[in-house]
Amino acid sequence: MKIELKVNGEAREVEASPVARLLDVLREDIRLTGTKEGCGEGECGACTVLIDGKAVNSCLVPAAQAVGHELTTIEGLAASRNAEVVTDVQQILVELGGTQCGICTPGIALCATAVLEQESNPSRERIRELLAGNLCRCTGYQLIVDAVAEVIERRGAAK
Ligand code: FES
Ligand code: FES
Repeated sequence: MKIELKVNGEAREVEASPVARLLDVLREDIRLTGTKEGCGEGECGACTVLIDGKAVNSCLVPAAQAVGHELTTIEGLAASRNAEVVTDVQQILVELGGTQCGICTPGIALCATAVLEQESNPSRERIRELLAGNLCRCTGYQLIVDAVAEVIERRGAAK
């Protein structure tokens, strides 16, 4: 079937099975390979994308279900938030070492973006809770939590 998606502000039409996973359509048909596959079972968050601003695991969502919604992948995150090249979340994750191999990083950046849009000043403990669906094998999480806390601090200082 033909599936028409709106991805990073652009209309994209693909020919895919009615049950094709959004993750596969994004990576294989639209060639946006910044979205990663980890577990394929909704457990790791590597495949996180935003649907209407909400973080979802694209390995669990049929692409057809995303029709009529705004999709944002890591490739479009900066533009979607009016940032030039990267958002503050992406920049600070790199600066503070909250990314190593990078497999989890797109999902973490997208999830952190979404959660900070819903809750602008979470505690460190709450940041851990909010990002609990995004697994990282490399950093031990502390540096990721540090980075998100730093985003909050810099946004507060910039006000
Ligand atoms: S690949 Fe989707 S949650 Fe792990
Ligand atoms: S940086 Fe390697 S999985 Fe997180």
